[in-house]
Amino acid sequence: MKIIAGNWKMNGSRSELEKMVSDLESVDTQNTVILCVPFTMLGVSGCRTLLGAQDVSTHTHGAYTGEVSAQMIADTGAKYVIVGHSERRQYHGESNNTVREKAEMALANGLIPIICVGETMAEKQAGKTMAVIESGVRESIPSDVQTDIIVAYEPRWAIGAGLTPTHAEIATAHKLIADTLTQMGLSGTPILYGASVNGDNSADIMSIANVDGVLVGGASLKSEKFIPIITSVK
Ligand code: 13P
Repeated sequence: MKIIAGNWKMNGSRSELEKMVSDLESVDTQNTVILCVPFTMLGVSGCRTLLGAQDVSTHTHGAYTGEVSAQMIADTGAKYVIVGHSERRQYHGESNNTVREKAEMALANGLIPIICVGETMAEKQAGKTMAVIESGVRESIPSDVQTDIIVAYEPRWAIGAGLTPTHAEIATAHKLIADTLTQMGLSGTPILYGASVNGDNSADIMSIANVDGVLVGGASLKSEKFIPIITSVK
């Protein structure tokens, strides 16, 4: 059983989400299917699909115009929230510390954080991939985690690029994350791979050791692309 999570980023509409949810109803799968959608689409009713947000405030409430708290997300019935996505790190300057604070807010409000780590092309070229991944895991995950979390490895240079790392690179990264999580007392934490996943490469990618599922961007927007990923593994 794998976790197949979609990240709609800033795309879609409520009616498109309703259509996706209804298309997913008839899919025969044991896999866990999650859709992380814009805040305005949370709360769509009656779905087997589990919904999540894509970001959360570091604050609980108050004078923070434009922010959305973990409690507000939980109030919609959503179960998950992505934190530290590379686009948040890149365009909003989020550091590992900020990401950890967001994950703490999620956990304190009963949400499962999907904590993203991954290297940029410059970091890859400088030979820093492993160091960036390990510090990302150590610094972005709250200490004293008592409930479920999910970690996602997203090599930033491969996102939306139609590129994926080699199997060996994915295997090495996921082994490092799994070992680091074990050292942190978090063995068994699911580790997702994300970046340019599609129906043609998903089964192969999910056959790699320590890949417990995928976090899918572009190919999660339309059911004809997303469903083949969900059904590509048992
Ligand atoms: P793509 O699947 O479009 O490369 O995006 C990956 C991603 O960023 C998922 O969070």
